[in-house]
Amino acid sequence: MSAADLFSPLQLGPHALANRLVMAPLTRNRAGRDGVPTEMMAEYYAQRASAGLILSEATCIAPTAVGYPYTPGIWNGAQVGGWAPVTGAVHARGGRIFCQLWHVGRISHPDLQPDGALPVAPSAVRPEGQAMTYAGPRPYVTPRALETAELPEIVDQYRIAAKNALAAGFDGVEVHAANGYLLDEFLRDGSNRRADAYGGSVDNRARLLLEVLDAVVGVWGAQRVGVRLSPIQPFNDMRDSDPEGTFTRVVELLNPLDLAYLHVTRLGRDAPGAAGPAFDLGKLRRLWKGVYMTNHGYDRASAMAAVAGGEADLVAFGVLYIANPDLAERMRRDAPLNAPDPATFYGGGERGYTDYPCLD
Ligand code: PHB
Repeated sequence: MSAADLFSPLQLGPHALANRLVMAPLTRNRAGRDGVPTEMMAEYYAQRASAGLILSEATCIAPTAVGYPYTPGIWNGAQVGGWAPVTGAVHARGGRIFCQLWHVGRISHPDLQPDGALPVAPSAVRPEGQAMTYAGPRPYVTPRALETAELPEIVDQYRIAAKNALAAGFDGVEVHAANGYLLDEFLRDGSNRRADAYGGSVDNRARLLLEVLDAVVGVWGAQRVGVRLSPIQPFNDMRDSDPEGTFTRVVELLNPLDLAYLHVTRLGRDAPGAAGPAFDLGKLRRLWKGVYMTNHGYDRASAMAAVAGGEADLVAFGVLYIANPDLAERMRRDAPLNAPDPATFYGGGERGYTDYPCLD
């Protein structure tokens, strides 16, 4: 046996993945205003079914979890009904798709919340920047700090969403604990100033994530559940005073759960710098006892080197998967790639969504 290869199969829990390429979760804002997936979404995901694994775009677990226009949900029957053709189309092409479960926390706006309420967060700390609302960008507001007694309801929302994902035909779920959304806001001390059992020590800040994972694992089993972290991602005004201490402890706490994989993004989507002192994320890879997925800025050569060198078992590609439905074949053959069109990333119709050409 030679060293692991990007194009070689991987057993991920019960799933035999055809290769180590993953389609990263990508917000594309093409669901209905009611969070129901649209028909073109089935075509878009099915076109990308040759990825070893598809991670769905971030999918809202409750009406209060919504932070952007036209993002899909998974809290009601109509949304489950909209996702079923998506998972069916992916399966018909031999692919596998996990649902990424999302609560945006403070990265929302009263205009996107039921009854115009304030977004909820661990603490009343307003992020810098602007929310995207249906009426255009609006400055973020100071969120309402969740009461301790409300947290079991958040856990229940994840549990229900996980059950709905099962009903919709997904192959597993990824708990989104990255990029400045609710669970990440609890993890990092720039956004978590709580004095209860969910704030202070890293063990306390990780408590909600562990409770959510316990609930979701209760629905799916551990080997069909992944989790995503972004230890040095400054996007959404995130920071931590000690990213290395925080996230090495988080990974220690996650290890006993025996999850399907740990997904770590190397940096941020648009971010030039790290949030707090940077550290060698290889340390998390070495600590983690299971399958490790990396993400952000990989090309063919660096992804092949990452897998061959043991830096990761799986590599998730974002922008490259937007523009190249057959990215796995193109990379295998070292064929040229289509150029992405950023103007059509967020929202719109089929242009820049389902019309990128395949090789053959
Ligand atoms: C976004 O919609 O901009 C977005 C969503 C999820 C992420 C990052 C960015 O993790």
